[in-house]
Amino acid sequence: MVRCAIGKNKRDFFGFVNRLAAKNMTQIREALERRAPGFTLEQDFYVSEEIFFYDMENIFYKEWLFAVPACELEQAGSYSTLRVGAYNIVIVRANDNEVRAFHNACRHRGSIVCRAKRGRANKLVCGYHQWSYELNGRLAFARDMGPSFDKRQFGLKPVHCRELHGLIYICLAAEAPDFDRFAQITAPYLQLHDLSDAKVAFESEIVEKGNWKLVWENNRECYHCRRNHPDLCVSYSDAPSITGVAPGDAGFLTEHALRCERRGVPSRFQIDESGQFRVARIPLNAGTESYTRSGKRAVKRGLGTALQGHEGALLMFHYPSTWNHFLPDHSIVFRVLPLSATTTSLSTKWLVNKDAEEGIDFNIEELTEVWLNTNSEDQRLVEDNQRGILSPAYQPGPYSPEHESGVMQFVDWYSQKARQDAPCAAVYSD
Ligand code: FES
Ligand code: FE
Repeated sequence: MVRCAIGKNKRDFFGFVNRLAAKNMTQIREALERRAPGFTLEQDFYVSEEIFFYDMENIFYKEWLFAVPACELEQAGSYSTLRVGAYNIVIVRANDNEVRAFHNACRHRGSIVCRAKRGRANKLVCGYHQWSYELNGRLAFARDMGPSFDKRQFGLKPVHCRELHGLIYICLAAEAPDFDRFAQITAPYLQLHDLSDAKVAFESEIVEKGNWKLVWENNRECYHCRRNHPDLCVSYSDAPSITGVAPGDAGFLTEHALRCERRGVPSRFQIDESGQFRVARIPLNAGTESYTRSGKRAVKRGLGTALQGHEGALLMFHYPSTWNHFLPDHSIVFRVLPLSATTTSLSTKWLVNKDAEEGIDFNIEELTEVWLNTNSEDQRLVEDNQRGILSPAYQPGPYSPEHESGVMQFVDWYSQKARQDAPCAAVYSD
């Protein structure tokens, strides 16, 4: 249970959101109670601003979220910024090499401190009146504030931050939920992929005109793949068990995992009992090694140790913000952040060995075209889905038990979360 940090005197925005959410909690719960098992959610869950706020309060402001790959914070002073709903965050590598996260809000009059998406600085300096913060968040300089001013009281507000083998996660809750179990289960899989020694070769950010849950639902099945993803299907199997929730009916998954594990590569399918995350190494289609149109590897220099090239793809998701594909030659990390009830930002970053040289070891187009195309194909599917659901004629429809067990698993996880706690604004209070 996450402790709520909102008080009656907190800022209006959160009070407003909280009242909206509280007003509808009973209705939300009732709607979830009456959901027919195996059916999509009612229209409001995909279109309502109130449920969007509720989702932000109840899920995105409480759960651990994937933020950025650690390798993009190359040296002390490197920072990245992002926005999660109403919150602006800055993530920075300090002089002690630790990565920390802060609310990107000046403690003077609240201005954004770091304006760029990414940058490097010795100190984080607010552009308004030049209050300057050390990389560890302490206030270092504030001009003419009088003799009784105590700088120690006005450091940047911290945000929970953890690094998991090259992946930076943050949590906005006052009291973060457990991260260790996720880290313990996934670390052996991730550590072979050397993500902290990688570099970002390419990144894309698109805004899909669809509710964040539709983005996830689309991701958690490959029922749509054969007709819609010709490039991806060169190497990626659309077998239901790949995206599903249990490998039980898929001998080939188990055999592949056992073969990899005999060579010391953790691969078996594991899903958390809460349903929040899953990790599994899957084989790619026969004769293919990577996500390219030829099926051949995209990068000559591999990314990861103990990988020989035929391990297929390590798939990992962690609700509500990320799914990932880790291959022997490169990795792709995805980040999902809702912007409104019907718009969602999807960030995609391609990571390669930091010593791999573009034009020699890899070609950007070859590296990125399959997933750029796949993202754009998925964007159209999600947007068509959203437009259809906006019609008053929409009513919940049945998922395919064979192909959409992964979607049902996501919707079950969501429904359980949405019913769980009273909504609260997860303002970090010090
Ligand atoms: Fe940042 Fe004034 S608001 S220095
Ligand atoms: Fe797709």
